[in-house]
Amino acid sequence: MALIGPSVMCADWGNLQENMEMLERGGVDFYHFDIMDGSFVPNFTMGPDLLKALRPYSGKAFDIHLMVQEPERYIGMFAEAGADWITVHAESKVHLQRALQYIRKLGLKAGVALNPSTPLSALDYVLDDLDHVCLMTVNPGFAGQAFIPSMYRKIEDLRKVIDASGAPIDIQVDGNIGYNTIPKVIECGASMLVCGTSSLFNSADLEANALQLIEYVNK
Ligand code: DX5
Ligand code: ZN
Repeated sequence: MALIGPSVMCADWGNLQENMEMLERGGVDFYHFDIMDGSFVPNFTMGPDLLKALRPYSGKAFDIHLMVQEPERYIGMFAEAGADWITVHAESKVHLQRALQYIRKLGLKAGVALNPSTPLSALDYVLDDLDHVCLMTVNPGFAGQAFIPSMYRKIEDLRKVIDASGAPIDIQVDGNIGYNTIPKVIECGASMLVCGTSSLFNSADLEANALQLIEYVNK
C-alpha cells in the first residue's frame, strides 16, 4: 500500500482551489509543497501564505519540502500556516538533529531529504528523530526532469538501513514518480509517492488522473 501525494508546484496556480477540489475527489493521500529559496536550489516557488490559503480546502496532510538554506528559520512559520509534515535537506545549512527535534516538538512529523548523490550515512545518527526520509530521484529545483536510475538501488539500500534499525520510518520518493517508475520504487521499498507532471498532472482532469493512478498503484 503506497500513499500518493500531488506535488503542488505542478498544479495550475491560477486555479489552485479547483485543482485541490479535483484531487480531493480523486482520493489523494497528502499534498507535497515544494518550498524553494533560489539559494539552496536555483528556483523560487511558494511561501507559508499559500499554505494558509489552501488549508481550508483539505483535511489531508500538508507535506512541506524545504529546499532552503537555514530551514530552522522557517519551520515555525510553516507549522503555524498548517503544515503536518516538514522535511529539511541534510545538505542545507542546518543543525539537522536540532531541526528535527524542533519539528517534532511542534507536534509535526519530521523528515530528512537527501539529494541524489548524498550518501545514506547522513542519516546514521538521526534515525530515531525521523518519521520519513525523502529520497530525491531527480536533482531538486524543477518539475519535469528524468528519473535518475541509480536511485532504485539507493531506495533498496535505505530500506535495508531502516529495517536493520527497527525504526518506523517511511521512504518517500520525489521526482518523476509516474507510471514508468512507480512499480520499481515500490518494489525497492518506497511507500510515499510524490507525483507531479508525469502522472497526477499529465492532463487537466485531475480527479480522473488521481483515480487512475491510485487504481494502478494499488492493483
Ligand atoms: C523537485 C520537486 C518535485 C517535483 C516533482 O525539486 O521536489 O516534487 O516538483 O515533479 P515531477 O513529478 O514532474 O518530477
Ligand atoms: Zn519535492
